[in-house]
Amino acid sequence: MRLEWKNSLRVAALACIASLAIPVAAGDDGVRYPEGFRLFDHVKSMIIEAGHPLFEAVGGLHHLYANKRAMDGYAAIEAANGTVRFKDRSVIVFDLLQDVRGGNAIVEGARKAVIVMEKDDKAYADTGGWGFQVFDPANRTPLLDKAAQAQCFACHQAAASTDFVFSRLRP
Ligand code: HEC
Repeated sequence: MRLEWKNSLRVAALACIASLAIPVAAGDDGVRYPEGFRLFDHVKSMIIEAGHPLFEAVGGLHHLYANKRAMDGYAAIEAANGTVRFKDRSVIVFDLLQDVRGGNAIVEGARKAVIVMEKDDKAYADTGGWGFQVFDPANRTPLLDKAAQAQCFACHQAAASTDFVFSRLRP
């Protein structure tokens, strides 16, 4: 990873936490809580530890899930010769949990946030066709306002050639 990119990751990540602290009115930006996402397809998992540029924003253990349309998008990345576009109504969920360490194991703890990207080229034209949102796991309240959503997109722009999606499907 290039150093400038690392630094911009850090700045964006910090802006991100600041925004997480300011709840906004429910349901005002259009991204819906992804009901039933635990039955979506599993994409990959990762543990982010202290020292990683994303630690402040999303430290802990996360699993990524995708609905069927988003799975088509991931398959397109694998097959791509050019720029990939995910279809409208693709949904990717970043399920963030605490990483609990002990007994020489790392296990899943309490859910910290349900983080979502939902595709709708018209509705979210300002942010690459993706609606970005973070839900409070306790009451499913959306936590991000427009400014915070722009911060999410600012970092995801680094993945422009794969339609702003960073992750790859683990076969
Ligand atoms: C500083 C950079 C950065 C910021 C800011 C950021 N993300 Fe991400 N995001 C990433 C990276 C890197 C991954 C890939 C994680 C992985 O591979 O497990 C990712 C993955 C995701 C995914 C899974 C799809 C994908 O692109 O792989 C979702 C959903 C997501 N982020 C939503 C958000 C939301 C919502 C926000 C704003 C609160 C946000 N992100 C802010 C860097 C960022």
